[in-house]
Amino acid sequence: MTQHLPLSPRPFQYPQQGGALHCGKTSLETLAKRHGTPLYVYSADQIVERLRLFQQALAGRDHLVCYAVKANSALAILKLLAEHGAGFDIVSGGELERVLAAAPEAAGRVVFSGVGKTAAEIDLALKAGILEFHAESEAELKLLAARAAKLRLKARFALRVNPDVFAETHPYISTGLREHKFGIDIRQALKIYKNAANNRWLEPHGISVHIGSQICSAAPFGAAMERVSKLMRQLEREGITLQTVDAGGGLGINYHADRFDAAARVREYTNAIVKALDGFEGQLLIEPGRFIVAQAGALLTRVVEVKRNGKKTFVITDAAMNDLIRPALYQAYHQIVPVRPRAENPWIVDVVGPICETGDFFARDRQLAPVEPGDLLAILDTGAYGMAESSNYNTRPRPAEVLVEGAKARLIRRRETMDDLFSPEIY
Ligand code: LLP
Repeated sequence: MTQHLPLSPRPFQYPQQGGALHCGKTSLETLAKRHGTPLYVYSADQIVERLRLFQQALAGRDHLVCYAVKANSALAILKLLAEHGAGFDIVSGGELERVLAAAPEAAGRVVFSGVGKTAAEIDLALKAGILEFHAESEAELKLLAARAAKLRLKARFALRVNPDVFAETHPYISTGLREHKFGIDIRQALKIYKNAANNRWLEPHGISVHIGSQICSAAPFGAAMERVSKLMRQLEREGITLQTVDAGGGLGINYHADRFDAAARVREYTNAIVKALDGFEGQLLIEPGRFIVAQAGALLTRVVEVKRNGKKTFVITDAAMNDLIRPALYQAYHQIVPVRPRAENPWIVDVVGPICETGDFFARDRQLAPVEPGDLLAILDTGAYGMAESSNYNTRPRPAEVLVEGAKARLIRRRETMDDLFSPEIY
């Protein structure tokens, strides 16, 4: 296990005063030298530790932690999580292909969420024998029934209901209100379940919700589950008994804090869900993504230039918004630390990438120890929705990725080459 300081939320530490930042026992300077920058570095120990927090908090009951693949879909990470008993929440045929490639034995532990599943994606998932489909509309349920009939395979489904619960988070990642595109109005659900129960190719298997992401209090999760509980009681009265309840993902981390009791947050979250589901004996599914991988990862980047424009100082890095888009897209905050801090008074700087867009920044008016070209910086808490949302904008090859496992560090994705970028093109 990683040597953590008490309640330190991250596996990145300075083991010696004046020394380099490490991930576990591995120096980030060494990794940058070996693999170049920008480079994503992840701690396998922390990923497993976070998965275990959920598994332990739910140990008393039938449960499955379905890691949300979208947060970080590296095959090596999926494999690692599968080895430790995780299931998977997918939202595309591509994500299913990833699970099947990394951990084919986990196909029966997959739930398929997402609006707008195509016939081809549904067929792939039916043939793979996934645990259940999360249907987001009546039309989708119809399509699911038609594909199941065609393949002569029964489809287990859960309706993703929209509980109309407000979760305080960024508007782009809040999903549980009636005005959002997600899920089926909870008031319509009873009727839809009753109709579907008469279709021989559909099996009402569960019920699911997902109210948003980066939610830091347990209350909205509990409120959503209370509504689900009520619907389940109504279904029972109609003779429909469900096997699973999926509470979705969305548990948030503290991007600002250096101390964070992750175990306490998980317990508070699972307690709220379990309490609201009082009397439900079936399998409880949850779909955490960010909470498992975000703090296990850092984006390592080298300072290319330090530039002064009027009163402002810009630290220009070799990483850019194509490597990590969260600050540009959600005004997200990420701590940035020098890999080898200089013992001088801090500056106030903007940390920016070289892409020709003003939105290409990682931090604005941020206090940072002085840096020089060639210095390394680590952008923290970037294990979730970092590499997964990267692109080749400005014809920039995407970063390499390293997984630190105990005392070993291994490359899990090599840096892209120009050949990788050009090969799909016809000219
Ligand atoms: N389940 C469903 C159906 C989801 O849509 C999501 C995330 C999750 C689970 C996992 O949520 P998590 O536990 O990671 O919060 N790119 C944004 C976050 C988008 C989340 C989308 N859905 C960000 O970087 O903050």
